[in-house]
Amino acid sequence: MDDQHFETLLELIELERKAEKEENKRELERYPLQVREALGKTVTRLEIVDEDVGVGGIPLLRLERSVQMSAAKRVAAMITGAAPVAGLSPFHAMNQGDNVLLTYPAGSDLTPNEGTLYDVGDNHVTVAIDGRPPDQLPQGHCQLSLLGSDATYKRMRQAIGVVRRTEKPDLSRLRNIFLGEREPSWSQAAALELYNPRLNEFQVQAVERCVGAEDVALVHGPPGTGKTTVLVEVILQAVKCGQRVLASAPSNIAVDNMVEKLLPFDLRIVRMGHPARILEPLRHVTLSAQEEAHSGREEVARMNEERHRLLTQLRRRQDRGGGIGSAERREAMALIDELTRKTRDNEFGIRREIIQNAQVVLSTHGGTSSMLARHKFDLVVMDEASQATEPLSWIPIMLGKKVVFAGDSCQLPPTIYSKDAAERGLKVTLFDRMKTSLPSDLQSLLRIQYRMHEDIMRFSSDKFYDGKLIADESVRRHTAHELPNVHATELTQAPVAFIDTAGTGYAETWNELLESRENEGEAGLALRLYAKLREWGLAPQEIAIITPYVAQVKKLRILAPEKGVEIGSVDSFQGREKEVVILSLVRSNDEGEVGFLSDTRRMNVGMTRARRLLIVIGDSATIVRHPFYKDFLSYVEALGAHKSAWEWMPE
Ligand SMILES: Nc1ncnc2c1ncn2[C@@H]1O[C@H](COP(=O)(O)OP(=O)(O)OP(=O)(O)O)[C@@H](O)[C@H]1O
Ligand SMILES: [Mg+2]
Repeated sequence: MDDQHFETLLELIELERKAEKEENKRELERYPLQVREALGKTVTRLEIVDEDVGVGGIPLLRLERSVQMSAAKRVAAMITGAAPVAGLSPFHAMNQGDNVLLTYPAGSDLTPNEGTLYDVGDNHVTVAIDGRPPDQLPQGHCQLSLLGSDATYKRMRQAIGVVRRTEKPDLSRLRNIFLGEREPSWSQAAALELYNPRLNEFQVQAVERCVGAEDVALVHGPPGTGKTTVLVEVILQAVKCGQRVLASAPSNIAVDNMVEKLLPFDLRIVRMGHPARILEPLRHVTLSAQEEAHSGREEVARMNEERHRLLTQLRRRQDRGGGIGSAERREAMALIDELTRKTRDNEFGIRREIIQNAQVVLSTHGGTSSMLARHKFDLVVMDEASQATEPLSWIPIMLGKKVVFAGDSCQLPPTIYSKDAAERGLKVTLFDRMKTSLPSDLQSLLRIQYRMHEDIMRFSSDKFYDGKLIADESVRRHTAHELPNVHATELTQAPVAFIDTAGTGYAETWNELLESRENEGEAGLALRLYAKLREWGLAPQEIAIITPYVAQVKKLRILAPEKGVEIGSVDSFQGREKEVVILSLVRSNDEGEVGFLSDTRRMNVGMTRARRLLIVIGDSATIVRHPFYKDFLSYVEALGAHKSAWEWMPE
């Protein structure tokens, strides 16, 4: 077995962990407090309301948010462009297991403590303090800042440790296949009775190959071709045969996407992960929600109360200085410890029962926690597989007997902080490796897409998929003006428009704070176009404005006149779609530099999010010097879709 491979992966994880930590530290210093707060990376105005000890005597502090965010703060957050989402908990970006820095009230002279988030609620958190908390707990407002999390790195390291050493037949078989040291096997699937009657021939073949595979199968597909739809059918087929399935993806939104598609089938499913990070309508299937509804829950609550009562009693007696003998104290502590352990065991038992009972467990790769470690799955399906690094992918694979991947190497790769680690191999995903090594009988390419007008699709299809992509009849010619109550105008009747800012003087600028680029002229133009679309009858939820640059995202949010305009980065929009998408390219300079626009996979994602109308705003004089954009300009020219920004100047 090629142990060197895993040795290298471990080194790369370590490089990456350090790079991420460095980046977090830099952010902490770079962003003003208000921006950090709006992003959820810092929470201020916290009061310590309780002190407790966890198993093994770890000191725990419970903090509560004392005041709601004031109107003035909200406005400030809007101005910085990092507006908090309405109704979102101040702790929305924090997760159990994250490393945090707890700063005590100004003037208290106490050194900040590092710690780990032990429990995260809507308006409170419990922090497990590293080292010793202050002897005298301070009054006043504390502050909590995110230092990033080591949890996922730890899980990756553990997974690799297990995989490289395992002698268990299932896992060592998968490992050897993924290392190219053993051939995968498959059999012809018997005729399947499909749950989804609408699957096209490519999708049916993909499902058959996935079901027939004994170890691993791959589903490739350009945007909107039904990769997730195929995975759902594969899951249903497995469940029908009595198999247990783990479905995972690198991001929460991608996991939610699968949950959403599975819900109508009335299976027993459990969604792992913090409910705060899961779409609201799907929260009832989370482990937490099911735990809450479990009959054993009352007993746990009772024991918790009892433990708390004992602890308060002990503290009061100590405070009164009434002298409590060390033997007595030890006894009380032992009792508390015992209760803590029992509560934990009970909670653990409830969770295990719920998970054991589920036919399908869904989780992000990183969120596949130790809670699942003792569970075995007959099948692991992994969506958005081209966005997960290899070490991350091993976390769920480790729990399965067979793996089905779905992904698209022409869309965005995993985010990697360390350039060095990326170059030394971290950027090569397991999906990429399998793509070159698996026999073609275990791979399927989906080719019919159900999203885009064919003119929106064709440039991407020619550039990335050898022109093989086909638009389904139901979407092939659909345009925005066919939506109810939308006026027929030049723009709404055409599927593509390139609005050229050349000669307008809309120049890019460098945003020092965000270390990213923006273009105010383009942002204004995008918002004028948005206003026109609204005037012509399109609803806010049918339109999105996206851009590759985070500074431009902020700029657009600041300038947006109405609430509810959906504005986001291209990266955050992968896997999503809108009827109309306005894409602002930002770059406009005399040197013809396009910077990271030259990663054309990002453009492939950006240009394939629109169903009926794609409006690209950019400076032809700048982008034409890059061959990809030169071809795009010829493409829009041929469509008669090249327009000048002068048509859209403010009155
Ligand atoms: N055979 C089909 N008939 C009709 N609609 C379909 C079919 N297959 C998929 N769809 C629809 O097409 C859309 C895209 O499907 P899906 O999300 O599965 O694609 P995907 O390849 O996973 O997309 P992405 O690349 O964005 O992840 C969905 O709305 C889905 O319901
Ligand atoms: Mg998908």
